[in-house]
Amino acid sequence: MEQLISISLGYIFGCFQTSFLIGRLYKKVDIRQFGSGNAGTTNAIRVLGWKAGVLTFLGDSLKAILAIFLIRLFYNDQVFALYTGLGVVIGHNFPFYLKFKGGKGIAATSGVLLAFDYRIALVACLTFIVIVALTRYVSLGSLFIATWTPIAIYLFYPDRLEMLILGLIFMSLAYYKHMGNIKRLLKGEENKLGQKKSA
Ligand code: G3P
Repeated sequence: MEQLISISLGYIFGCFQTSFLIGRLYKKVDIRQFGSGNAGTTNAIRVLGWKAGVLTFLGDSLKAILAIFLIRLFYNDQVFALYTGLGVVIGHNFPFYLKFKGGKGIAATSGVLLAFDYRIALVACLTFIVIVALTRYVSLGSLFIATWTPIAIYLFYPDRLEMLILGLIFMSLAYYKHMGNIKRLLKGEENKLGQKKSA
């Protein structure tokens, strides 16, 4: 029951679609119809500009932090932070009021990691920056964060199988949402940061 409550609360927070709202309110566009079609930070930078991108990252990560902060008032086991975070990512990726077409959940996952265990978030953030600075492929950095999540959970919480399973679900969701990016990366056709044109 606690698991279901955590996921549901997370889902409600996750449905707050920062880039979609910025696009609609300030530029009168549906971000999902431009660029990569993704409602997330990278596409917000591409379609709406850097300021909107930064705001999107802050909004999408903050909603995860807030949801986890709230659930901790009721349940103090770390596993519920992950259940809530999973709900946030599912809400972000599949918002019911946008016909389940949202983002790819990486900014939200970053917020989850920060609220869950700052050590895990720190490694994720620093490595992401290095990967993107070297390659200019944001999706490659995102896939690192996705892969690092279950690995880090295993390293920092080796006795918590339930947490590891949740980490693997986070990873699978991110890989599923990045299928198009993975195909483009393999073909050498992925969009680079700062590049206007996109698939
Ligand atoms: O987190 C999203 C990023 O990895 C890729 O975004 O818009 O290039 O598909 P996009």
